[in-house]
Amino acid sequence: MQEIRVGIVGAAFMGRAHSNAYLDVGSYFQLDAPVRMQAVCDTDADAADRLSRQYGWLSVETSWEKLVKRDDIDMIDICTSNKTHMPIAVEAARAGKHVICEKPLCMNADEAKQMLNAAREADVRHMTAFNYRRVPAILLAKQLIDDGKIGQIFHFNAVYYQDWLVDPNFPFTWRHDVKEGGSGAHGDMNAHTVDLARFLVGEFHSITAAQETFVKERNKPGGTKDKVTVDDALYFMARFKNGALGNFMATRFATGRKNFLRLEIFGSNGSLVFNLERLNELQYFSRMDASLSQGFRTIMVTEGNHPFLNKWWPPGHIIGWEHTFIHEIGDFLQAVAGQIEVKADFYDGLRCQQVLDAAVTSAVEQKWIDIPNA
Ligand SMILES: NC(=O)c1ccc[n+]([C@@H]2O[C@H](COP(=O)([O-])OP(=O)(O)OC[C@H]3O[C@@H](n4cnc5c(N)ncnc54)[C@H](O)[C@@H]3O)[C@@H](O)[C@H]2O)c1
Repeated sequence: MQEIRVGIVGAAFMGRAHSNAYLDVGSYFQLDAPVRMQAVCDTDADAADRLSRQYGWLSVETSWEKLVKRDDIDMIDICTSNKTHMPIAVEAARAGKHVICEKPLCMNADEAKQMLNAAREADVRHMTAFNYRRVPAILLAKQLIDDGKIGQIFHFNAVYYQDWLVDPNFPFTWRHDVKEGGSGAHGDMNAHTVDLARFLVGEFHSITAAQETFVKERNKPGGTKDKVTVDDALYFMARFKNGALGNFMATRFATGRKNFLRLEIFGSNGSLVFNLERLNELQYFSRMDASLSQGFRTIMVTEGNHPFLNKWWPPGHIIGWEHTFIHEIGDFLQAVAGQIEVKADFYDGLRCQQVLDAAVTSAVEQKWIDIPNA
């Protein structure tokens, strides 16, 4: 492969985050095939034009159906609203394109299975864009867990707090419509923490959930209102197959919290704490430390031998949120070039979706739900 020609669909928030990654990735990753930012597509032609000018995409489309069939595209990057993920990914895979897709992978597990099957049948590389798997501190946590440093895991507690919907005048968007988003805070935020739980602890056994929509309708342009058909917050409790207990809280009504994602993992030998607002740090407690000096220590995850850090700056020169996208795009481009195998793939997206679906069912039926085996 001479170069990897990318077509991106969706030219807004995630379109920008991924575009920034394509611009930077070649300077920090050893890519056997360099990336070419071939086309940006958005039904909003102005947004596509803007992104093309800002980041240097070489052409503009307004139809993803046309984009995925182009001969000069090798890989499709899906950064659109959740309802569109499945059809774009399936058609892209059938056209022989490699596919990276934003989270949540799609609307429900049935759709996720269709995406996984299409990618496997076409034998293309596929990735679910769970960028927090590529935070160096999270990868260090994984290493410490795999090395037995915290022993048997008893608890995985995850909170994901935002507050942008506390304002009742915040307008109605696709994120408030179950037909466009699948769910609200749950699919958006619990998707990340469910994936991190699977990555760090293992598979889920069963869950029970409660959800609430605090503001029932929101303003639309022209003075009308629309009914909010998704959760504003969904909390759930989980049992993992290995016996650990989990607690997950996702809300867009955590007044004062902007993007507060905190994990606490308690084990028989030690504990780990991660907070996205302190992305370069991992807190570690070890019961193996001498008793007088026992206590949580803060590891600055910026050393050259920490995950991904050999690509960046000298120790102590911190990285940020946007680097997680450079890491995921860098890994996916290497997978497309045949340099490495890559996770999280559409199978991981499906497994996450099964947990998300079960939580919604549980919240409605008010009972524990078992997670399917595969
Ligand atoms: N990884 C993360 O941390 C993270 C953060 C935010 C959003 N996301 C995910 O990224 C995806 C996009 O979210 P966003 O915040 O960028 O949304 P957004 O509303 O800001 O942008 C979506 C863009 O997609 C375009 N679009 C919608 N339907 C389309 C279609 N059929 N064809 C072409 N373009 C279409 C819209 O016009 C819009 O420009 C969602 O799945 C979301 O859950 C991930």
